[in-house]
This record gives sequence, structure tokens and C-alpha cells, in this order.
Amino acid sequence: MYSEKVMDHFSNPRNVGEIEDADGVGEVGNPVCGDMMTIHIKVDDGKLADIKFKTFGCGAAIATSSMITEMAMGMTIEEALEITRDSVADALDGLPPVKLHCSNLAADGLHAAIEDYLSKKEAGN
Ligand code: FES
Repeated sequence: MYSEKVMDHFSNPRNVGEIEDADGVGEVGNPVCGDMMTIHIKVDDGKLADIKFKTFGCGAAIATSSMITEMAMGMTIEEALEITRDSVADALDGLPPVKLHCSNLAADGLHAAIEDYLSKKEAGN
């Protein structure tokens, strides 16, 4: 039912945790199931220098969160904003149809963290 990549990222998630002096923090909940995700980012010279996540959710949500941190690491914030729910699911060789909504958390969480970073930057902090 799950691809090998999903199982790998679920059993051995990358970049789990928090960044103490994060430049942006995104917190999102999945309205479909109530699962939650927090993502912390560090931005250096317009690029994502570090990303950490904590996901309180199902295996597919953990796998997509882990995968998105790997995909986005080193990208410019503009590139990272272009990562979609579908591109994360594709990078994992697909998700079962009933689990597709789980990839929303990762993409929404990353985008929320970047928006938080951008709004802080605008405010001059
Ligand atoms: Fe909630 Fe997958 S069931 S994110």
C-alpha cells in the first residue's frame, strides 16, 4: 500500500526537531483529521539553511514532512514556495488516495514558516 520511500521516511524521518533561534515558524493543523505539524526554518542569504519539523500525525504525514525538509533544504525561499502537495507526494512515489490529504500538512507547514519569516523581515525584526 505504501511505497518504499514512504516507509523509509516514516521509519527513519530526517530533520526531526526544532531550531531554537528559528527565522520562521509554521504551525498547521489538518482539518480532515486534526493532526498537527510544526516546522522551523533558518534562512541564510535567501536560502533555506536549516529546516526541522515535528509532526503529531499519521505515518504518511510524518513521511511527507521528512521528505519536504530534504527537498527544500538549500532552496531559495521562492523555490521552496513552489513545492506543492502533489510534488511531495510524487517525490515519495505516490501516496494511497485516502492518504493524499496528509501531504497537505507538510506543504502548508513549510509555506507557513516561510510566510512567518517574510512577515518578520518586513517588520524589520
Ligand atoms: Fe492526519 Fe494523515 S491522517 S495527516
